[in-house]
Amino acid sequence: MNPTTNIAVRAARQAGNIVMRSFSRIDTLTITEKQVNDYVSEVDRAAEKAIIETIRRSYPHHAILAEESGKHDGNECQWIIDPLDGTTNFLHGFPQFSISIAMQHKGQLVSAVVYDPTRDEMFTASRGNGALLNDRRLRVTEQKSLQGALLGTGIPFRDQRYLDAYLGMMKSLIRDTAGIRRPGSAALDFAYVAAGRIDGFWELGLSVWDFAAGSLLVREAGGMVSDIRGGDRHLESGNVVAGGIRVHREMIKAIRPHLPSELAC
Ligand code: IPD
Ligand code: CA
Ligand code: CA
Repeated sequence: MNPTTNIAVRAARQAGNIVMRSFSRIDTLTITEKQVNDYVSEVDRAAEKAIIETIRRSYPHHAILAEESGKHDGNECQWIIDPLDGTTNFLHGFPQFSISIAMQHKGQLVSAVVYDPTRDEMFTASRGNGALLNDRRLRVTEQKSLQGALLGTGIPFRDQRYLDAYLGMMKSLIRDTAGIRRPGSAALDFAYVAAGRIDGFWELGLSVWDFAAGSLLVREAGGMVSDIRGGDRHLESGNVVAGGIRVHREMIKAIRPHLPSELAC
């Protein structure tokens, strides 16, 4: 494991402790609505602060992009942090959420950690060294087609601009696959693709902190991550498809006819 992945693991564990301590007293938390259906609690903020402090102790000159506090300038190394991915689940007492931390060097992802504190599952990846769940090496599934595939997704709940297009995609994929799951933490959804728990995943309108770490996990587990058209602009657009090579290809094919013109080119 490279040194930055190690620091990310340490930071994720600290954030995980903060998140789990609060999970038993959700009723007492102060919650703010940032925009429609976009909530932040004191837990998100406290977890983010702990992560940033841990990173800064080892790497005071690195840049940081964190969901709650935004950009912190620095050198060509940038950390991308979602201190609590799945806040809606967390606030409802639904135990599916995670901490997501990635590190990019000159725009290239080098370290990734997604931590599920409810199950103590630490998903890690270091560029060129594969992906792990705790100590076990990860591999995406070898599912050959959509038939029999289990997919994950995120159903639009804030920005509804592409809801009809999304429902068209979902309809095609429901017909072809064994089923679709909407667990509610995109970072963990990617980790589950890497771990072979689902064969593929797609979502529109993600933010970079939702899936920067997850996309390195999938790639290091031998999978494909692309934008919704099959190109490489997913980190910029937030419209993303991930999966084993063949399932990914089939998903892109099934999704394409439903793309609205502004997403199609
Ligand atoms: C959200 C989760 C969710 C996804 C949303 C994200 P948050 O992150 O990843 O699965 O569907 O698009 O915004 O707001 O809980 O950090
Ligand atoms: Ca998120
Ligand atoms: Ca978040």
